[in-house]
Amino acid sequence: MTNKTIALINGANLHLLGKREPDIYGSTTLHDIEHRLTKKALEHGIKLITLQSNHEGQIVDFIGEVGLLSSSPIDGIIINPAAFTHTSVAIRDALAALNKPFIEVHLSNVHARESFRQHSYFSDKAVGVICGLGDLGYDMALDWFIAHFQ
Ligand code: DQA
Repeated sequence: MTNKTIALINGANLHLLGKREPDIYGSTTLHDIEHRLTKKALEHGIKLITLQSNHEGQIVDFIGEVGLLSSSPIDGIIINPAAFTHTSVAIRDALAALNKPFIEVHLSNVHARESFRQHSYFSDKAVGVICGLGDLGYDMALDWFIAHFQ
């Protein structure tokens, strides 16, 4: 048992997973992903807290609350910033302030899509970036934390 806590954060429009452009993002719902990861994390003694938000400031607030403002700050983050990937200096700064390992996940291969998706404000600060492997990418990110905490 590791006694660690990590957060799974999903950005704009990811509450629509399963219905949103399934040819690009797949048919699995965010609820299913969160449920699956929470269960797997628990089996390894890791508490997973989840947030999906369409509001940049809410994600910034959340990272501060579970991080520097908490008496027991979280130990890492799995984040799919969604569209905020390509726009958000504020979320990047929140993660830098937290100063804990985070993994950037994208369901789609952003490098095979529009050119504006090919720049990320997160990748150079992430421990790793997983993209194009669908919702399996979230499980792979969790696997990294499970190994990292051992
Ligand atoms: C995404 C890719 C982003 O470019 C896009 O804005 C999303 C989802 C992905 O998971 O593939 O909303 O992060």
